[in-house]
This record gives sequence, C-alpha cells and structure tokens, in this order.
Amino acid sequence: MQQATSVRALVLGAAAGGGLPQWNCGCSNCQRARDPNDALKPQTQSSLALSVDGRDWALLNASPDIRAQIEANPALHPRALRDTPIRSVLVTNGDIDHIAGLLTLREKQPFRLFATAAIGDILKANPVFQVLDPQCVDQVTVALEQPFMLLDGIEATLFAVPGKVPLFMEGPAPDTALEGEQTVGVELKVDGKRIYYIPGCGKLTDRLASRIRNADLLFFDGTVFRDDEMARLGVGQKTGRRMGHMAISGPDGSLDALNDLAIGRTIFVHINNTNPVWLDGPERRAVEAAGYEIAHDGMEVLLT
Ligand code: MLT
Ligand code: MN
Ligand code: ZN
Repeated sequence: MQQATSVRALVLGAAAGGGLPQWNCGCSNCQRARDPNDALKPQTQSSLALSVDGRDWALLNASPDIRAQIEANPALHPRALRDTPIRSVLVTNGDIDHIAGLLTLREKQPFRLFATAAIGDILKANPVFQVLDPQCVDQVTVALEQPFMLLDGIEATLFAVPGKVPLFMEGPAPDTALEGEQTVGVELKVDGKRIYYIPGCGKLTDRLASRIRNADLLFFDGTVFRDDEMARLGVGQKTGRRMGHMAISGPDGSLDALNDLAIGRTIFVHINNTNPVWLDGPERRAVEAAGYEIAHDGMEVLLT
C-alpha cells in the first residue's frame, strides 16, 4: 500500500516585525515577555518551515531571528561538517522581517531563493544582498499564478494579496491595497492537500476568499486584533490597515471574513507584540471559540 505523504510545518517565528518583546517597546506584552517567570514567552519574527520527509526543508520568509530559529529547531541543524537541510527559501514581501535573515545565510551554502520579480528587484537593488554568492544561491524569479516545485513533493503558487510596498520604500502616501508582486500569498499543494501561507493581508477580497475556501490548512495574518490597537496602547499612530494588515476583529476583520470558508485548520501568524491574543484573555478566547489557533514559536503542524 502506498503511504500518503504528510506535510510538516514548523512555526519558526510567530511574531510580526520587531518580535516579542520588541527592542524599544515597553508595552505590557513586551514587559511580560521579558519576565522569565511570566507565562508569556518571547516570540521571534515571522517565518515558517515546511517539509514532506523531515529531511529537506523549505523556509517561508527569512527573519532577522533566523540564526536562533535554526538553533532552536534540531530538524534544521547541519548533518555534516558543512551542511544544511534548508533547500529553499521563499520570501513573500520585501519587509525587513522577511528578508533580513538572508544575510545570515551567506556562508557559501547552496540553496534556492524564490521571489517575485518585484521582491527580487529589492534584493538586487541593495548591494548588501550580494553576499549571497550567485555561484551558490540560485535566485529564482517566480511569476504570479505559475506553479513551481518549492521542494520535491511540494508544489507552490504565488498569488497577489492586498498589501503595500515595504516600509523602507513607502512614499508619503503609500497605496495600502496594492495588489501585485509586492505582497504575495503562497498556495502549497502536497499530495492533494491545499495549504495557504498568507502572513500579510490588507483585505480578504472575494477572489482571495474563494481561493482559500475548503483549504486543509491556512496560516493567516494575525498582526493586530484591533485595527487601532497601537494608538489605543499609545505606542504609535498607525492602524493595522495603514500597515497593510487587516485586523482580526471588527466588521472588516478576518474572524468574520474567514467564518464560512470551511477551512480545515486556521492558524494566525505574524502577530504583533501589541496584540492581546498573546494573552489568555477575552480576545484569545474569541479567536479560539471561532475555531482558530494562535501560533507560537516551535508550534508543529502535521497534516496527514
Ligand atoms: C509589517 O509587516 O508591517 C512590517 O514587517 C513592518 C516592519 O517592517 O517593521
Ligand atoms: Mn512584517
Ligand atoms: Zn510591545
């Protein structure tokens, strides 16, 4: 009898850009995460690892915390004198939390780096990324809606998701509902199962909703619980929407929008340090009562 292929997803980093705690933040979540006696544990920045055989791995986004993430996950350790089980790295936008980790992967180690042309152009325009020696790192430009093999056994397709250009490329009034190559979601097909990874999403459009309907597994943007939570906490003026992230709650929130999409398992990732869902409180309970989960560093999901 042929054995069905199972997929292993490892949450390397559950937090959004900045992590939990964020270096310059004294909000109550960040203070609690700094207290070793508190139940709220520190969380690293946005990245997911995937494998079908436990031997070869793909990383979805390369966070500034990648070195610690690799060390924290034995599956990603070298198995020979110079070696890595990481065969490919895919980036879903050009923000620092998703690309800065590429600089850590600079030790003449072969892997494939997948990105859209627009995101690849950001890497090419910044000479510091030339430390990824093209002799070793095969930088592959991926067109939207064109399936490609991310790893043996994992077919991936990138698709446009409402978002914006990276923070460092914003003009005075960036379009925060840009749909193109700057912010993408990833559709993964493994042995007939459909998985989606969408760590940044400004709006769940009808097109996106019908795409992800009936998926087996969804990792979705959980940056903020309330659109205005940063202002409420007094840590900044930006809304989730202004940052290209739809809130979990509220009339335009993901909790309602995902409600009738019949998705097997929905896990929020890319969670900002200000988000109350980190705590065991009413907001987290509302998410869990709706049948969704909150990711944490080291969370492992096995889809068989
Ligand atoms: C975001 O997702 O909004 C960005 O990671 C922001 C940032 O680069 O700090
Ligand atoms: Mn981010
Ligand atoms: Zn904070």
